[in-house]
Formats: sequence, C-alpha cells, structure tokens
Amino acid sequence: MARHLITSAIPYINGIKHLGNLVGSQLPADLYARYLRARGHEVLFLCATDEHGTPAELAAAKAGKPVADYCAEMHAVQAEIADGFRLSFDHFGRSSSPQNHALTQHFAGRLADAGLIREVSEKQVYSNADGRFLPDRYIEGTCPNCGYDRARGDQCENCTKQLDPTDLIEPRSAVSGSTDLEVRETRHLFLCQSQMKDELDAWIDSKSDWPVLTTSIAKKWLHDGDGLQDRGITRDLNWGIPVRRGDADWPGMEGKVFYVWFDAPIEYIACAGEWAAANGLDDADWERWWRTDKGAGDVRYTQFMGKDNVPFHTLSFPATVLGSGEPWKLVDHLKSFNYLNYDGGQFSTSQGRGIFMDQALEILPADYWRWWLLSHAPENSDSEFTWENFQQSVNKDLADVLGNFVSRITKFCRSKFGQEVPAGGTFGADEEALISDLSEMLKRYEQAMESMEVRKSAAELRAIWARGNEYLQSVAPWTEFKTDPEQAAAQTRLGLNLARLFAVLSAPFVPDASEKILTALRSEDNAWPDGMAEFLSALRPGHDFDVPDVLFAKISDEQSEEWQSRFGGTRV
Ligand code: MF3
Ligand code: ZN
Repeated sequence: MARHLITSAIPYINGIKHLGNLVGSQLPADLYARYLRARGHEVLFLCATDEHGTPAELAAAKAGKPVADYCAEMHAVQAEIADGFRLSFDHFGRSSSPQNHALTQHFAGRLADAGLIREVSEKQVYSNADGRFLPDRYIEGTCPNCGYDRARGDQCENCTKQLDPTDLIEPRSAVSGSTDLEVRETRHLFLCQSQMKDELDAWIDSKSDWPVLTTSIAKKWLHDGDGLQDRGITRDLNWGIPVRRGDADWPGMEGKVFYVWFDAPIEYIACAGEWAAANGLDDADWERWWRTDKGAGDVRYTQFMGKDNVPFHTLSFPATVLGSGEPWKLVDHLKSFNYLNYDGGQFSTSQGRGIFMDQALEILPADYWRWWLLSHAPENSDSEFTWENFQQSVNKDLADVLGNFVSRITKFCRSKFGQEVPAGGTFGADEEALISDLSEMLKRYEQAMESMEVRKSAAELRAIWARGNEYLQSVAPWTEFKTDPEQAAAQTRLGLNLARLFAVLSAPFVPDASEKILTALRSEDNAWPDGMAEFLSALRPGHDFDVPDVLFAKISDEQSEEWQSRFGGTRV
C-alpha cells in the first residue's frame, strides 16, 4: 500500500468542456485513481476550475455577468457534470480560493527573495478602440511559428508554442476585432526561468520512465532556438490574484494581477488545503501530501494533461516550485495525451464544434462515454470520434460482450435452478484452463493499468470479458443441462462468479454498471482478486441473487444518425 497524489489539469471556467477535454485529463486521471483505490492504496485525487485570466473575463462579459458571479455559477455547473461522469475527485476546488490567493503570493515572495524575479518595462499591445491593454487571449492573429491564423496571444493551439501577444502576425482585438492597435510601455514581473535551465534539464533527464510525448516537448522548449525564456507572470487585468510579495505590497505593481498560468498550477497545492478545510482537517493533513519535510516523501505524484499543457507542467511550474527553495513535492509521473478529433475535424470550444459534456449525458449514461473515450484515448497519436465507431464499440463491447454475459447467465440460472447459486458438479479441464488463462490476463490488465496505458488496459479488460464468454459458449450449460444437470450447475455457478469478476475489474472504467452487477449479485464485497480460483468461488451455493435490468442498451442506426446530424453543426 502506497500513497498516491493525482491531479488532473484544471479546466478553464469558461463554459462546459467537450469530450476531447475530458479524455485528455480528467477521465484517465479518474481511471487511475479508481484503480489505485481498488488496489487498496491511499489516494488523494484533486481537480479544480481554472478561473482567472482572459478566458474567464471574456466569457463573463459575453454572459453579461460580473466575473466573480459567473465563475461561482460555472464552478457549480462543472462540478455537477463531473459528478454525472462519475469523476471521483476527493475535492473539486477553485483557483480563485483564498488558499490559492495566499499560496500564489507566497510563492511570488519566495521567488523574489531568491532573486528569481525581475521587473521589466514591457511593450504591450494597447487597443485604441477598446481603451485597454490586450493581454493573452484578448488578442488573436497568425502564429509566427506555424502560420495558424487563429493563434491566441498566449499560446498557439495548433503547434503548442507559448507566445507573447506582440509575437502575433496581423494581430486583432478579440474584444472588438479592431486592428487599430499600438504598442505601449507597462511594467511587469518576469520569472527568471532561464537561470534554472540546467536544474530543469537535469530534473527532466532523471525521468527516464516518462513518455516521449512528454519529455520531447519539454526538451524542445529547453533547447530549441535561444533556449528557455523568462516568462512574464503579471498582467494588466482586474480579475485575478493581486500582485503581492507574500503578505507585503509590491511597489509599482498596484492594480496588477498574476498571470493565470502562474497561479493555476499552484492551485494543485492550494486545492489540497481546500480539501482539508472542507473536511474539517488540519494543515498537517494536507501537508503530508505536499511537503516532503512533512511526510510527503513517500507520496507518488502523477499529473494528467493534454499535450498543450506539457510546457507549463515540465518547465514553468517546476521552476516555481524548485525556485521557492522549499520542500514541496514535485511531479513523479506526467501522463500527457494527444488530441481527440471529432468527425473529420477538431473539437473546438470557441467554435462550439463537437459534443459537450452536458449534451453527452443528456443522450446516454456516463458509462457508455467512459468506455468509448478510454478505449480510444489519444495516447500515441491523435484519435477520432465518429458516431459509427461509437455505435459499434458500445454495441459490441458493452452490450454484446459484457452486458449480455451477465444477463444470459443470471436468466439461465433463474430458469433452471432458481435465483440462487446452484450447488453440485465439479470443475474439469475447461474450468482449469479458464482459471489459469484469467490469472495471466489479470496480470496483464494490472500491468497496463499501473503503467497508465489506457487503451491497452481497455483491451486487456475486454479480453477478460471475451474469455468468459468463450467459456460459457463452449461449455454451454443450457445444452449440458439436458444430459448432466450437476455439471451444468457447476458451470452456472462459475458463470455467476465470472459476472462478479467482471464487475470488480470493470469498476474503474464503468463504475455504474459495475455497481449494478454487484447489487444484482448481492455482493457487498468488491475487493480486488487475490488468487483467481478463490475469487471465482466466492459466491457459494445457496447465495441469492437478482437478475439485473438491461445493463447496456444497443445504439440503433436511427439514433446514431440522429445524433450525428444533431451534433454536426456548431453549438450556439
Ligand atoms: N486550464 C488549462 C487548460 O485547460 C489547464 C491548467 S492546468 C494547471 O488548458 F496547471 F494550470 F493547473
Ligand atoms: Zn503555431
């Protein structure tokens, strides 16, 4: 038993996330958290909303609401949807929390004391039409790196390059569309990341087990061109964490706030404080997860995120943490994802293209989406959602293989032996082969889950379901019953125990179905198998059960076509 700290990239507050966002961080993080809990580990799984910066201000303005109200409302909306998808956060915090305000100002103070912050007079884009500076997303234009014409002032969505608004070619205001822009002077704080280049480089090198997708992105920003650049960590905005040096004022920085990408990852830590506060715990209770001098030395910390987030998590945030000179926990493993595309194009929040989390739950329960998304996670390359593939995968894997097995064996037992596990018969070669195969397959499934190979885990789990089906199909208790009812009883007993095995092993992927099966089998014990033969005889003769309702309904061609056309356009 070990202690695992798990964080998912914290979603921007501006609106409801699409399925591409979900599969890139929150959902695989949940899979891992559920798996580790099932294996008896102590887990702290944290996520939050990312509430500062221009995305929040722009969205609140569009909704015609004060930004604080907008954020509070959207946090509640996102929390409810997360619940709907069964995301098992121990706490779903807010980057605007008092804890994050205090901690962000604390880090800035420490960094300044360590000589890692310098003040610069910066040239910033000012919009004459809007009468304000245009930081980050308030400005759009063409990416100087790849030529993408909708790049934002902070980062190019297309090539992941971190940008400054003045880097954009043919810039325009995202507020008014105006191109009447000029460059003006303003003073800002910069984090001297370049001074920490060697330390960061050595730290990345020590992570030989990280996926190449992760390390190659980090190495690129460390070594390409002029190497790691210092980054501005303050902005001329109203909404955000006021620039202070610990508890003290920061002369010259009045009216400015920290840059959203400075305070957002600090929320990973602050969120643990929010969790403790919400549960009546002490500081020591969250610090044992985060401070290596206060017990976090044996914690394993894993972060989940989409590939566009990798530079911030491998460079900027570690620079903040290391630069503080305090014993905060650094990430041990960083799992990043490529993009999920939607039906021949990209999912896009700004263009309302694709399926959004609330819409998904309106048409089908969480398990259907969880299974498809995780079994098609964009791990080694981008992947694509199509309705045809979704329909096929739900109908085949969930309805035919998993759901049908459970319903067939429980119904068969009811019709021949009644609603209790039948006694009699003995196990022969078929059963021994099954048990030995399943022991091997379980090991492979566990290995894939432990190494966070999401697609492979799904494939291993599916193979376990298929092996059970193959057994039932080949021994055919419904035929056996005619000549040897004793033997058919043994097969049926094993079949019912297989249903329980499926429920326990599938819980991280499809938690609702898993619970339904266990409830039908009247099994409160959902402990992970420790010895296959023993596990498969846990439901003893005479144990009562119920036949569950249909676990997974098939998706018809009509439904699939209707949804394809309903979600074909853009959301308004
Ligand atoms: N809100 C960012 C995004 O959706 C992710 C922030 S992750 C954190 O891309 F590191 F800042 F926490
Ligand atoms: Zn680009």
